[in-house]
Amino acid sequence: MKIFESHAHYDDKQFDGDRDALLAAMQKQGIETVVNVGSTFEGCQKTLALTKKYQFVYGAVGIHPSEIEGLGEDVCDWIWEKSQLPKIVAIGEIGLDYYWEKDAGARQRQKEWFIRQLEVAREVGLPVIIHSRDAAEDTIRLMEENHAEQIPGVVHCFSYSLEMAEAYLRMGYYIGIGGVVTFRNAKKVKEVAREVPLDRILLETDSPYLSPEPNRGKRNSSLNLPYVAEEIARIRGISLEEVAEATRENARRLFRKVEETMA
Ligand code: NI
Repeated sequence: MKIFESHAHYDDKQFDGDRDALLAAMQKQGIETVVNVGSTFEGCQKTLALTKKYQFVYGAVGIHPSEIEGLGEDVCDWIWEKSQLPKIVAIGEIGLDYYWEKDAGARQRQKEWFIRQLEVAREVGLPVIIHSRDAAEDTIRLMEENHAEQIPGVVHCFSYSLEMAEAYLRMGYYIGIGGVVTFRNAKKVKEVAREVPLDRILLETDSPYLSPEPNRGKRNSSLNLPYVAEEIARIRGISLEEVAEATRENARRLFRKVEETMA
């Protein structure tokens, strides 16, 4: 069984003690491909280094909505430039996060950065990885206004209603499902995992965050992905292998540069 990890942060300092040992052993344990997703500017730089060091690690460059303060517009030029590297397969993670940000002015800056980075993705022809927390209405409205349906992408760590998932599906987006689906009280995510077409789901961990059961609360890694796939399989009444295979195909369809660099 081969698993495609669509969203991890191995640049995070929580991996400083054992990053190389962990990553070096990963492929043997079934994790075929990892997309390491930038969220801070520094994290994007570390992401580039990881893609150089590990053949199976690909990267996304972009600034998370909670990490935009103090950055200049030259950062967007930098993202544009690095997106041309063969192993940079997406722009992300970008979006809106109102959970951590209550200030109206700061929320406005998040919107500006989101729009700007969507435009970079459109210009360079790469998919986007969307982060949206407590900002469902503004995210979808802003994406509609800016014709994000013309840009392929995934809404990562999907936490909204099935109705909202359907709105993203209509825009052509994939739905990223991670450890939360294994939590007993995660009714909405379980419903989304059951109803979204199998050809539109991506597996992700968001490591080091959001470890699935039975490792909830501990540092997460892609090695926990079988627990996520197992729960999706249980909910849908299909096999673990079917979930792994379908989500792998989906990820390779979305992040098409992965296959281009392998060929
Ligand atoms: Ni993330």
